[in-house]
Amino acid sequence: MEKINILLLGSGGRESALAWKMSQSEIIGKLFIAPGNGGTGNFGTNVAISPLDFEAVKAFALENAVGMVVVGNEDPLVAGIYDFFMSDAATASIPVIGPSKAGAMLEGSKDFAKEFMNRHGIPTARHLSVTKDSIEEGFRFLESLNAPFVLKADGLAAGKGVLILPTLDEAKKELAEMLGGMFGKSSATVVIEEFLSGIECSVFVLTDGDHYKVLPVAKDYKRIGEGDTGLNTGGMGAVSPVSFADEAFMEKVRTRIIEPTVNGLKAEGITYRGFIFLGLINVGGEPMVIEYNVRMGDPETEVVMLRIKSDLVKLLQAVAAGTLDRCELCIDERHAVTVMMVSAGYPGSYEKGKVISGLENVTDSIVFHAGTKLADGKLLTNGGRVIAVSSYGDSKDAALGKSFANIDKINFDGKYFRRDIGFDLK
Ligand code: AMP
Ligand code: GLY
Repeated sequence: MEKINILLLGSGGRESALAWKMSQSEIIGKLFIAPGNGGTGNFGTNVAISPLDFEAVKAFALENAVGMVVVGNEDPLVAGIYDFFMSDAATASIPVIGPSKAGAMLEGSKDFAKEFMNRHGIPTARHLSVTKDSIEEGFRFLESLNAPFVLKADGLAAGKGVLILPTLDEAKKELAEMLGGMFGKSSATVVIEEFLSGIECSVFVLTDGDHYKVLPVAKDYKRIGEGDTGLNTGGMGAVSPVSFADEAFMEKVRTRIIEPTVNGLKAEGITYRGFIFLGLINVGGEPMVIEYNVRMGDPETEVVMLRIKSDLVKLLQAVAAGTLDRCELCIDERHAVTVMMVSAGYPGSYEKGKVISGLENVTDSIVFHAGTKLADGKLLTNGGRVIAVSSYGDSKDAALGKSFANIDKINFDGKYFRRDIGFDLK
């Protein structure tokens, strides 16, 4: 069987989980991770290249006979790495897993995503997009809605661009501030949305542009505090499966959301060969789209990868070849959970460079590094979210028990984690 060298772009827990899974492939040759973190070197070779330095990514890919580039994070996709590779004769034959720049707009512009959904009849909250020039219309739209009020910066804002305001006065004030440059260029356009009430989940779809596979459904826990309180983080843990995402719900997701999305992209001539992340909300049994992302989720990937039994590299090759319909996706029936260990102070300011110890004592869980680095042979914290401890179990609670037992063995100064991941699910 011919082996393939892969270059994975990114440095978080998501990329650790993708690297772990790809490293188990029958057909993986060399696996490179750019830039990777203190743990990704366990699954391949870290390369000190920024995913946004396309020229450096290209040079490395050519020098190292890379046969596929897998893009973990959204920034290079929104910046057009797919088009960059395809438009250059030297790299056009190297598949990039991820959408074209036009497809990445589903995440890169919330206004584009809303208009796309409206064009294709995909259920989502009512909205109005406004700029400085149309702020008065924005105020009137806010007046027509019930509290709370949802304001979203149109562009990428590192997960911070969504505000949910309890009163009309605050919503108007924040709308003016956002349009005045609160998130720089990202909030030059603001999407005002009707508030939807329900429980959320993350649905991941792999598509080759014609066919698709639905990966295991997950739910992430974004708030820093137990009971979903306090500030938003990049994600404190995740579980899969999600009890309410049953067959009846998923049938609605497929027919009302996934198929119109894949078919809509194709009908609009938008090339999309990669992951689609649907942030969904269950409104009284009816799935609605909160957001699209054009990559896998973090920390959802740290549970989704555990539940894929099939060879991920073979699936990705089929994505590139347009033959996903000929592949089988086998799912592990067990529950998977991940619990994120974070630095004291996160998501506010926190210290880095704390020594991490005890990883050698972990049994029966899979440790995915996020914000870690190796320096002089020592493993140090290097971010707010440090390590995700993922486990399997016959139930969610059995899996959580393993993650918590292992978290007890891992130490760094100021470690914090949530003990209630999955609390709101059966
Ligand atoms: P996002 O950055 O788009 O993921 O939004 C952050 C969070 O804001 C989502 O995960 C939801 O919890 C919440 N949110 C966004 N849009 C809405 C909405 N229309 N109704 C209720 N909650 C929302
Ligand atoms: N877990 C949410 C995200 O990756 O955006």
